Amino acid sequence: MINESRRGFMGKAFGAVAAVGAVGSLVAMKKSWDPLPSVMAAGFTTVDLSNFTANKLEIAKWQGKPIFILKFGADMPEVEKRSVKVGAHYYSVMIGLCTHLGCIPAYKDSEHTFKCACHGGEFNAAGVHTFGPPPRPLDIPPFSIKDENTIVLGEVGPEYTELIARLSTDTNIA
Ligand code: FES
Repeated sequence: MINESRRGFMGKAFGAVAAVGAVGSLVAMKKSWDPLPSVMAAGFTTVDLSNFTANKLEIAKWQGKPIFILKFGADMPEVEKRSVKVGAHYYSVMIGLCTHLGCIPAYKDSEHTFKCACHGGEFNAAGVHTFGPPPRPLDIPPFSIKDENTIVLGEVGPEYTELIARLSTDTNIA
């Protein structure tokens, strides 16, 4: 009688240990399938635009690339080209790598111009190539607009989709 109840107890104990082990293995397997937190974080960059100043270039980082974000002032004529409206303001949002050979252009605020020191290429404030060897405007990264002061780089939002569609059909603003 004593032996039987002991056997029953031991059986339940082994069963419980095996069940905990199985759950632990499943959790470990799932963790190994999920992307690392650093990989997930690298996919998106949230940018708070609330303290941006007009005509002052800000540089965010997305997937290891510099992202130029330039808030347009009222006196900047390029505002209608390739710009993104967030809240009440227009911005250029562009990958800050020259489309010639990948150098990082510098922004000259007095001229509203990006100048690439490598081979003299130039882009206007909207990122359109205006001089030198760059073959096309600065590229636009995927983005989405979260609210009137926030954009998320790396996330494809409707404004990005619309902008890319517009640029692909209107050669004047490409
Ligand atoms: S890399 Fe910019 S002009 Fe050549």
